[in-house]
Amino acid sequence: MRDLSPDLPLVADATRPLGPAQLAVQDISLTLRGTRLLDTLSLAIQPGRKTVILGANGAGKSLLLRVLHGLITPDSGAVSWEGGPLDATARAAQAMVLQRPVLLRRSVLGNLRFALSVRGVRGKARVAREAEALARAGLSDLAHRPARVLSGGEQQRLAVARALSTQPRMLLLDEPTASLDPAATRHIETLVTEAHKAGVSVVMVTHDRGQAQRLADDVVFLHKGRVAETGRAAQVLHAPRSPEVAAWLDGRLID
Ligand SMILES: Nc1ncnc2c1ncn2[C@@H]1O[C@H](COP(=O)(O)OP(=O)(O)OP(=O)(O)O)[C@@H](O)[C@H]1O
Ligand SMILES: [Mg+2]
Repeated sequence: MRDLSPDLPLVADATRPLGPAQLAVQDISLTLRGTRLLDTLSLAIQPGRKTVILGANGAGKSLLLRVLHGLITPDSGAVSWEGGPLDATARAAQAMVLQRPVLLRRSVLGNLRFALSVRGVRGKARVAREAEALARAGLSDLAHRPARVLSGGEQQRLAVARALSTQPRMLLLDEPTASLDPAATRHIETLVTEAHKAGVSVVMVTHDRGQAQRLADDVVFLHKGRVAETGRAAQVLHAPRSPEVAAWLDGRLID
């Protein structure tokens, strides 16, 4: 598949030439039950960046994230990973964390072990990665506790650490701190920031303006299944060009 990024006007500014996209969608549309939920949407996500997706409830953020992770195939349009198709190999280079983490009925350690085993990580390498993930998540003392009795913040830390244990090149997160208190939120943000420093590209959905300001390099603002605005975080969050972002920053609803 050809590289989609040169055609895409997104997340670019005059001072920074647009490099090849790591992940790109072009003119994707998705209709479910007669409603067009994603509407000729195009987006190029640059490698090594933290991209934050914002938008009102129902804007299509979670659907877009599912498309980016290959869980949903759009009705039309193209999705590409590093200039090629978003195939199984490409998907294995990504890891996704959902708003409500899906943890197995196993111990904390068992959840990590399973995720690594299905990716063929065995023996000493697996033990080392398990220990690293436990330490990273601050869960070493809880390794043998059933994952499902962890607190919300602990569960989310486990979900992020489990995702990172697979050594993805891109981490996708859907509102990972939506139900967490400020301290738990900061802990997740630290995990994400450290992963980014280690070279992982980050794509994160949030409703939290402060979080977007803390984390985002680039912002994508969705409105009714379309990109209303995208660009550097400082520009979009402080000098929005679209009425949709201006309204969102003011806490106003817009049709
Ligand atoms: N399987 C489905 N069938 C029909 N409609 C769906 C389906 N999944 C999502 N939708 C609709 O698509 C729209 C976008 O949903 P999505 O979950 O992507 O929104 P969102 O931006 O993530 O919102 P929120 O901020 O509330 O999480 C919503 O109107 C939702 O009702
Ligand atoms: Mg959502």
